[in-house]
Amino acid sequence: MMLPWKQIVLLSITGYLAACTEDVIFQGPRWRTEPSDLILPINSPDHQATIMCEAEGSPPPQYRWSLNGTLIDLGNDYRRHMSGGSLIISNLDKDQDTGAYQCTAFNTWGSILSRRASLQFAYLENFKTQTVRSAVNVREGQGVVLLCGPPPHSGELTFAWIFNEYPYFVQQDSRRFISQETGSLYFAKVEPTDVGNYTCVVNNTVTKEKILSSPTPLVLRSDGVMGEYEPKIEVHFPDSVPAAKESVVKLECFALGNPVPEISWRRTSGVPFPSKVKTKNSNAILEIPNFQQEDAGTYECMAENRRGKNAARGRISFHAKPHWLQTITDTALSIEENLFWECKANGKPKPSYSWLKNGEQVMAEGRVQIENGALSIAALNLSDSGMYQCVAENKHGIIYSSAQLMVLGKIASLLFLLSCLSVCVALLKARSGSEVTLECKPQASPPAISLWKKGNEILQRTERITLFPNGTLKIANVTKRDAASYTCIAKNQFGTASTTGKLLITDPTRITMRPTNMEIIVGESIVIPCQIACDPALDVSFSWAFNGQLIDFQRDSDHFERVGGSISGDLMIRNIQLSHGGKYVCVIDTDVESLSTSAILVVKGPPGPPDKVSVEEITDSTAQLSWTPGRDNGSPITGYIIQARTPFTVGWQAVDTVPEVVNGNMLTATVVGLNAWVEYEFRVVARNTVGLGEPSPSSAKTRTEDAIPDTAPTDVGGGGGTKSELVITWEELQNGEGFGYIIAFRPVGTVTWTRAVISTPGVARYVFRNDTIPPFSPFDVKVGAYNNRGQGPFSSIATVYSAEEGTVQTSQPSGGKRCLNKISAVLILFFLFLFVSSFCQVVYWEDDTKPDTVAFNTAGPGPQSAPINNTTKKPPPDRAPLNIQWTMIGSTLTLHWDPVVAMETESKVTGYLRHHYNDINTILTNKTTAELTLSASDNYLIQIKAVSEGGEGVGSEPIHIHKLSEFNVVFVLFPF
Ligand SMILES: *[C@@H]1O[C@H](CO)[C@@H](O)[C@H](O)[C@H]1NC(C)=O
Ligand SMILES: *[C@@H]1O[C@H](CO)[C@@H](O)[C@H](O)[C@H]1NC(C)=O
Ligand SMILES: *[C@@H]1O[C@H](CO)[C@@H](O)[C@H](O)[C@H]1NC(C)=O
Repeated sequence: MMLPWKQIVLLSITGYLAACTEDVIFQGPRWRTEPSDLILPINSPDHQATIMCEAEGSPPPQYRWSLNGTLIDLGNDYRRHMSGGSLIISNLDKDQDTGAYQCTAFNTWGSILSRRASLQFAYLENFKTQTVRSAVNVREGQGVVLLCGPPPHSGELTFAWIFNEYPYFVQQDSRRFISQETGSLYFAKVEPTDVGNYTCVVNNTVTKEKILSSPTPLVLRSDGVMGEYEPKIEVHFPDSVPAAKESVVKLECFALGNPVPEISWRRTSGVPFPSKVKTKNSNAILEIPNFQQEDAGTYECMAENRRGKNAARGRISFHAKPHWLQTITDTALSIEENLFWECKANGKPKPSYSWLKNGEQVMAEGRVQIENGALSIAALNLSDSGMYQCVAENKHGIIYSSAQLMVLGKIASLLFLLSCLSVCVALLKARSGSEVTLECKPQASPPAISLWKKGNEILQRTERITLFPNGTLKIANVTKRDAASYTCIAKNQFGTASTTGKLLITDPTRITMRPTNMEIIVGESIVIPCQIACDPALDVSFSWAFNGQLIDFQRDSDHFERVGGSISGDLMIRNIQLSHGGKYVCVIDTDVESLSTSAILVVKGPPGPPDKVSVEEITDSTAQLSWTPGRDNGSPITGYIIQARTPFTVGWQAVDTVPEVVNGNMLTATVVGLNAWVEYEFRVVARNTVGLGEPSPSSAKTRTEDAIPDTAPTDVGGGGGTKSELVITWEELQNGEGFGYIIAFRPVGTVTWTRAVISTPGVARYVFRNDTIPPFSPFDVKVGAYNNRGQGPFSSIATVYSAEEGTVQTSQPSGGKRCLNKISAVLILFFLFLFVSSFCQVVYWEDDTKPDTVAFNTAGPGPQSAPINNTTKKPPPDRAPLNIQWTMIGSTLTLHWDPVVAMETESKVTGYLRHHYNDINTILTNKTTAELTLSASDNYLIQIKAVSEGGEGVGSEPIHIHKLSEFNVVFVLFPF
C-alpha cells in the first residue's frame, strides 16, 4: 500500500495526541479473535454457524472472508452476513458450507490474514437393511468376530453392543472386546452363555445420534467343541500410526484363542513406559496421553496362552503443527534504513516459511531478500510501509505472525520526537518504598540520545537509580526525598526535545476496617465494611466482587448499594437472598496500588420445599407418608410439619402424626386421625432455626379406606311439604362404598319406628308420603348412615311436623302420576332368579327393632313427554318406566313407577302377560303399582317394561334383590 508521507505525519500526530504508548503509531489491524474450527451436527437446531473474527486498529478494521481460498461475495447473499468481523451463516448446507474459512482484516495501514478455520458437519446415517443379519455358527471354544459395519458418518463414533435386548449390554472383559475403531465385537473363545442376538449400537459423539444395527444371532454348533489353540491377534493397530503432539494415542490389540489369551505391551526399544501410559479393557487398549516426541517409536503387543504366543508391532511417529519460537514486532524505520525481520517456528516436520505483505506473497528480488524465516529489505522507501506476516507451515498446520512496518520521512521523524515528549510525562504518583520507572522513549529516527534531570541537576546512576540505554529511568525503593520534577531531554541530529514530569511519593494505604465472615438470615440487610486510611494526594476508588464477578451497582441496585464517603467503600446489601451467599471482595484501587480484602457471607434461610411426598400405605384413619428433604439453606432441618387437604376442608390443615414430633432426620411419618373414605392430599413443610420453609408439592390424591360410619348425620330437621307429607332433612355425611342413610320416624307418642333407606349420593332429604298422615302433627325423627361395612349410630331424636293442610310445594315430583288417568299404561314385570352381582344396590343391616312400615323415596321426577292418544300399530315405546319406587314388608314387595307415555309414532301402551322361559316370571298390570310375594331363599332381579301392540318397550334398570334372610331388609330404589 502506498501512503504519501504527509498523510503519515498527520495520522501519526493525531495518534500521539490521543495517547502516548509505544505502539501508538502502529495502527494497522491486529487480531483480537481469530476464527476457530467448528464441527456442527448436520441438523443443528438453530441451523446457524458463527465463525468469529475480530481485529483492532485505527481506523477500525474492515473484514472480508474467503472459503477454500475463494473470496466470499456477501453482497447479495441471503444466507451469510457479517456481524463485526464475524461471519454468520444461516440455513446451513453441508455441500455449500463445508471448507476452510479465512478472515482478512484491513484498514488504511494494510491487511492481515487470520488462521484458517474449518467448518465441518457431523452426521450419522441409518443402517441400510433392517432385516436380521445371518446367524453366525460357532463351536464352543472357538473365537468369533461380529462385524458392526457402521453406515456413512462424520464425527467421532463410539460403539457398544446389546446382548439380546436393551438394556443388556455386552460387558467387555479379557474374553470379549469391542473395537472403538471398527465397532466389531470379538470373542476370544465362545461359551454357551454367549448364544443370543447381538445388536451394534453406534453413537455419534457430536450429533448425539444413536442408531442400532439389526441383530446378529450367535448360534452354537452342536458338532463338537473347539480344542485349545494358540492366540491369533485379530485386532491389530496399524503398522504406522501418526500421532500429533499433545494428542491422546490409543492402540487396540485383541486376540482370539483358547484358553483366553493374555495381552501385554512393550516398546521394542526396551524403554519402559512412563507413568502416564495406561492400559484399559484387560490390556486390550494402550493409552498414551499428551503424546510427545520421546513417545514415538515401535510398540509391540503380545498375546499369550499356554498354547503359544503371537505379537503385533507398529510404529508411532510424532508430528506437530508449527508453533512460534520467535515472532516479528512492529517496527518504524526511516527512509533509506534497512529492515531485518526474523521469525522462527518449531514443528514436525520442520516448517517452511513465507512472507506476506498486506495478505499477498512477498517475492524475493532486488532490495528484498528472504532466507528461511528472515526477511530483509534494503534502503526502505515509503511504499514499503504496510502489514507484514511471516507464515510458517507444515502439512499439519499453518501459523501467521503479523507486524506493521512504518517507514518514516525525515520531517516526520522529528515531529514524532517532539510530539511524544510533550505529552508523555505529567504527574506520576508512587508509593513510598516502591520502584518507579520513568519512561522516555522518543520515537526518533535516527534514534535519539536521552538524559534525565532531577530539578536542574543531571541525574547520575547510583545504587538506587538506574539509567537504561533506551532512555528509561528506574528508581528503586523510593522515599519522600525522591519527590521532584524530572525532565527527560532527547537529542538527535535534527533537534532536541524535552519533557518534564512530577513525581509524587505517597504514604502506603492501609485498610482500617475490613469485612469479617458473617452469617445472615435471608431478607435482612447488612453493611459489609471496607474502610481505608490513605495519602490525601491519592485518588481512591472502591469496587466489590461477589463470587469472582464485579458487582454492577446499577444493574443490581435492588440489593447492592455503595455507602460511605471517599475513604469508605462499605457495601450495603438490602433484602439479602440465598443466592447472595458467597465470597465478597472489596477492591481498593489508588493511583499507586491496588489492595483487596475479602469475607465470606453465609445466608441462612428457611428450608427449601421437601419433595416426592408419597402415600406408602393408607387405612381408614391413617396414612404412612414418605418424602425427600429439600435444601437446608444453611441451617439444619429441625423438623417437619405435615398438612392435609380434602374436598371438605378449606385450605391446608396440619394433621396429627405418629410420632407426634417429626424431627429433621425423619423422612417418613404416619398421619393419624383421618376420616374414612375421604380423598386426601398431603404435603410436608420443613422447619429449621430460621423458620418454616415453602411446602412441598402435594402428594397424589389418595382415598382413605371406608369404615363403618362413626358419626351420625347432624342437623336433623324438616317440615313443610304438601298435604300428607313428612319432609325430613339432615346434614350430608361423607361416603363409603355402598353408602346410604336410614331414616326412622314415628308419630310422637307411639313406639314403633318406620324406617326408610336411601342410597343416592348427595341426597340429604327424604319425603314420606302417606294419606294417613294427619296435617301438622309431630313426629320423632332420627337419621343414621350405613355403608358396605355396616351401620353407624343414629342421630339424637328430633321433632319434625308433617305438612300443613293445603301446603303447596311446586317441587313435588307428581306430574307423572297425574298423567296416569289420561293414558292407558300397561307394564310388565319380569323377575328373574339370579345371583346378585357385587354392584347391587341392595342394602342389609342389622337392627333390633323390626320395621313395621316401609317407605320409599321420591327424589326428582324423570323426563316427561306430552301425553298422546294413539291407536294405530306403531313400534313399542323406547323409554323405560321412570321413578320406580319399591317397598318391602315381610316378603311382600310393593312397586310404584311413573307411566310411560306413548309418543305419536309409537303404539299405544296396552298390556299382556307373557312367560318368557322357565325361570322368568312375568306379571302384567295396567296400573303403575304391583305387589309381589318373594320367596326368602332366592335372589331376584326385577325389571319393569312398557308393552304395547308393537311389542315390549325398553326395560328399566334391573332391581337386584338379595336372598331374604334373618335380617330385616328394606329396599329403596331410585329413578335413573
Ligand atoms: C472446500 O474444500 C474441501 C476440501 O477439499 C471440500 O471437501 C469442500 O467441499 C470444499 N467446499 C466447497 C464449498 O467447495
Ligand atoms: C433372537 O431373535 C430371533 C428373531 O427375532 C428370535 O426368534 C430369537 O428368539 C432370539 N433369540 C434370543 C436368544 O433372544
Ligand atoms: C454415546 O456417547 C455419549 C457421549 O460420548 C456417551 O455419554 C454415551 O454413553 C454413549 N452411549 C452409548 C450407548 O455408547
